[in-house]
Amino acid sequence: MSSARPTTTNAGIRVASDDHSLTAGPNGPVLLQDHYLIEKNAQFNRERVPERVVHAKGGGAFGFFEVTEDVSQFTRAAVFQPGTRTDTLVRYSSVAGELGSPDTWRDPRGTAMKFYTSEGNYDIVGNNTPVFFIRDAIKFPDFIHSQKRRADNHLRDHDMQWDFWSRCPESAHQVTWLMGDRGIPRTWRNMNMYGSHTYSWINGAGEKFWVKYHFKTDQGHDFLTQAEADRLAGEDADHHIRDLWTAIKSGEHPSWTLHVQVMPFEDAADYRFNPFDLTKVWPHGDYPLIQVGRFVLNRNPDNYFAQIEQAAFEPSNMVPGVGASPDKMLQGRLFSYPDAHRYRIGTNYMDLPVNQPIAPVNSYSKDGAMRFSIGQDPVYVPNSYDGPRADPACGIDDSAAGIEHEVIRSAYRLHSEDDDFGQPGAMVRNVFNDDERARFVDNVAGHLSDGVSEPVLERALDYWRSVDKDTGDKIAAKVRG
Ligand code: NDP
Ligand code: HEM
Repeated sequence: MSSARPTTTNAGIRVASDDHSLTAGPNGPVLLQDHYLIEKNAQFNRERVPERVVHAKGGGAFGFFEVTEDVSQFTRAAVFQPGTRTDTLVRYSSVAGELGSPDTWRDPRGTAMKFYTSEGNYDIVGNNTPVFFIRDAIKFPDFIHSQKRRADNHLRDHDMQWDFWSRCPESAHQVTWLMGDRGIPRTWRNMNMYGSHTYSWINGAGEKFWVKYHFKTDQGHDFLTQAEADRLAGEDADHHIRDLWTAIKSGEHPSWTLHVQVMPFEDAADYRFNPFDLTKVWPHGDYPLIQVGRFVLNRNPDNYFAQIEQAAFEPSNMVPGVGASPDKMLQGRLFSYPDAHRYRIGTNYMDLPVNQPIAPVNSYSKDGAMRFSIGQDPVYVPNSYDGPRADPACGIDDSAAGIEHEVIRSAYRLHSEDDDFGQPGAMVRNVFNDDERARFVDNVAGHLSDGVSEPVLERALDYWRSVDKDTGDKIAAKVRG
């Protein structure tokens, strides 16, 4: 059959057949001379890159971010200046499951955002929860091992999950989220996105602030019960990917309103709990939400592999006007992501179209596998040939990373109200309503009743009694019958 677009080899040479290999007579054997047959199958054997070690299953879309308010008194970042509109990419994911796992497993959802700003790529690689299970990056591999699969039978295992959680009580706030209604969003459109960490902002006058990002869904919150999620896991494992794709295709463009909480720089030193601890939120009563702008998704990818699977997000992509903080998790992540991309995609992952900034790249990085950007001489600095020069006044804030200078291994210095159970307890008592609390008790009891053995079980029940005595007793009554 003829087509306006003839099939070609990867070198652009037209091919004679996509149906029949080149053979000696109709029954073969097949000839080595058929280099197109070889190219086609060799290429096929190499179609996969390793899946992400976490957040393997996901989907995403393109859109824009528009600043509707004026927060220039807090940051000089171009992306946050009044009226600025920036192209964006988002990738949603679940954490523990593999590439083909059901979208509706109970898990936090990743919300990785890339802003293609005029000052370079800015990535906010967050979750749909404002907190996390641990507060030090040194525990991350252990935490993830406990949530994925056992060494012996390659099965996921509640005993292993609760063993880790109950031995790490700092997990209580995030586990409360996970077991609550928001632990399984109905769709990615029906959940918030949080930067989660504390970041710093720096304004045009060089003043610094601490900041937390909240992207609130304009679609309203909605969730799946455990029973609905279990059913969908079998009926449509790609429920969340399908929902986002279909909504955008039919012109229903989901949006989120960005708010920030801003803490004056000096407040951090003696705030009532450690403001860099990722297991804590800043109560809105202390630091109210300040509206910034609107994040809209309006374009599906053309090629899932090239634009979503090969997308590389990294918390270290911070633009002038934004900086890190002494959050020990964030500090670990600044290393982890570019390292993961070099392994998963290759050292020149930034050359791929989806990862390329719109800002000019004048870097001294050179060569490496699959490089296709054309570097120019001089290839070293300092040089006498008018090569790019670093700009000390560029506004990048490296200093926020160190408000304490001793080099030690230690827990966070405790502030007066630091503990592991206060905030999850407040959430269960004051934020959940009676119905939410009842489903929460069922969710936890159901999880604990499925394969959790002593002494892990008793420790897990104590964990919930510490969060809230009454809720813990109700969970215990259900589990112990
Ligand atoms: P507030 O009453 O000011 O805020 C409560 C927040 O809880 C609201 O932002 C609301 O988000 C959110 N919320 C409502 N229902 C649920 C639910 N079922 N699951 C999860 N979140 C829900 O109180 P505080 O700021 O003092 O925080 C109290 C507790 O609320 C915290 O322990 C925390 O876990 C939770 N929370 C706090 C947030 C913060 O940044 N301070 C953010 C989200 C939750 P929405 O407006 O989207 O409905
Ligand atoms: C993905 C490490 C904590 C959100 C990843 C990946 C790694 C990683 C290695 C895979 C990257 C890739 O191959 O592309 C870590 C470490 C952490 C940590 C070491 C703690 C020290 C967190 C936290 C959040 C988060 C706290 C959210 C607040 C994400 C998201 C992705 C991801 C959204 C998927 C990105 C994408 O869609 O490509 N993480 N992570 N991670 N992580 Fe983390």
